Amino acid sequence: MDRAPIERTPLVVIKDVSMRYRLNSLDVLALSGINVSVDSGEFLAFVGPSGSGKTSLLNLIGALDRPSSGKVVVGDTEVSSAPASRLAEFRLRKIGFVFQDYNLLPVLTALENVEYVLMLQGVAPDVRRRRANEALVEIGLDGCQNRRPSQLSGGQQQRVAIARALAARPLLILADEPTANLDSATGEALIQSMLTLNRNHGTTFVFSTHDDMVMSHASRIVRLKDGHIVESTAHAIS
Ligand SMILES: Nc1ncnc2c1ncn2[C@@H]1O[C@H](COP(=O)(O)OP(=O)(O)OP(=O)(O)O)[C@@H](O)[C@H]1O
Ligand SMILES: [Mg+2]
Repeated sequence: MDRAPIERTPLVVIKDVSMRYRLNSLDVLALSGINVSVDSGEFLAFVGPSGSGKTSLLNLIGALDRPSSGKVVVGDTEVSSAPASRLAEFRLRKIGFVFQDYNLLPVLTALENVEYVLMLQGVAPDVRRRRANEALVEIGLDGCQNRRPSQLSGGQQQRVAIARALAARPLLILADEPTANLDSATGEALIQSMLTLNRNHGTTFVFSTHDDMVMSHASRIVRLKDGHIVESTAHAIS
């Protein structure tokens, strides 16, 4: 007997989105006519040349920016129209960011950096310490808990950022070029950690990349060019 198809719930819905930046008196149309949905559990990569709009799109999904037109819905929040106070709460509770300019706090240890978001979420001290520690161990950073960012390599810092995102139990982790600046072995290890989280916790990942190795692991590749989606290809995760 045929199996019923697995019910897929869209977690992110982007409808008719455009994004225009004003630079001095110039208008830059970074995104236009964007329509895309992301299902729960996907491991989705936005790819495309430099300037094609990948970071702009991730910023819209994470409610770091609002679209010039169109609608962005993540879970039950319409992030394109929600008031700023609601968006701060949304970012804190629903989204994990692994962005290059979302740096770790230099005066805090790796463990404290992970705990910090949980503290903002109001998680009790003993629970947050345990969860932060578990996330660091899971991502392969056991032994580095008490080091500050300056005492960690770029790849290790990137993994602390992922542990921080994971420990907060978000709906979605957004990662902007997570393997940029990492050597290929470290990049591969990082992606394997992300895939493990995706499989074990069902955490949805949406990331941008220029890296063929990262693309080979994506469950779907959405290609951007000049601010448009030009291709969307599903493939089996390897
Ligand atoms: N804050 C901004 N102000 C003005 N223009 C911007 C701003 N951010 C991005 N842009 C422009 O919007 C377009 C898309 O940029 P975006 O950063 O989204 O591209 P990208 O695909 O992430 O590129 P890269 O691969 O180099 O990171 C580019 O033309 C860029 O110059
Ligand atoms: Mg970018």
